[in-house]
Amino acid sequence: MATYRFKLARTDPSGGRRGDLFTLDLDSRMTVLDALFIIQREYDPSLSFRCSCRVGMCGTCAMRINWMPRLACQTRVETLRSESITIEPLASLPIAKDLVVDLGPFFAKWKKIRPALHPKNKDSKELAIVPPDSEFGRQAQGKRDCITCGACYSVCGIVGTSADYLGPAAINRAMLRLLDPRDGNVDDRLAVLNDETGVWRCHTQFNCVAACPKGINLTDSIMKMKRAMLFPKKFHDK
Ligand code: SF4
Ligand code: FES
Repeated sequence: MATYRFKLARTDPSGGRRGDLFTLDLDSRMTVLDALFIIQREYDPSLSFRCSCRVGMCGTCAMRINWMPRLACQTRVETLRSESITIEPLASLPIAKDLVVDLGPFFAKWKKIRPALHPKNKDSKELAIVPPDSEFGRQAQGKRDCITCGACYSVCGIVGTSADYLGPAAINRAMLRLLDPRDGNVDDRLAVLNDETGVWRCHTQFNCVAACPKGINLTDSIMKMKRAMLFPKKFHDK
């Protein structure tokens, strides 16, 4: 057991922001989410935060923990190497209450790139086979596990200054769809990526890569899409 001091960003009834302090004795294997449940259960039932799966799959518990976006359910307190733990909501998104943000702006960008599969041949009864050594097969390996947690979006310095920038997660998803040989919606996605709010806004700061809990190299995807804008025909010929 060790003693940890938590400072939580809270919403005042008046709508202002404040920091509340709590001191807890925790087993060092416990997670930040465990600590939030203890605080809510034993000290302040009005504390608001979001979670669902508790195993790093749903992305709903993303928040800033010691100034870095992380999944609360996957962050063991001992790994923070600090007895002081500051918890704040994700940045660059409207705060709904306490640690809960409105992910609406993030999903508005996500929707812009048409994230669902738009089959090339809707009526085909053939089984679609994606060779693992195709470009899509290779790229998908490390890029398909996005859980839409919003961490990369919230940590992006460009989103912070240009709210209309698509953001890393949407660009990564667009890349996967563009490379997917089963998908036929090429022009719409290219238009969104090539727009002034698209890939060209990225300044290659790598913050998104550092923040992604799934280890997705988002900057690599964005750079690939910048280069691909010179050869858009390849997506039609895939
Ligand atoms: S790319 Fe990574 S950080 Fe961004 S939303 Fe997906 S899982 Fe979260
Ligand atoms: S609760 Fe689902 S990722 Fe943390």
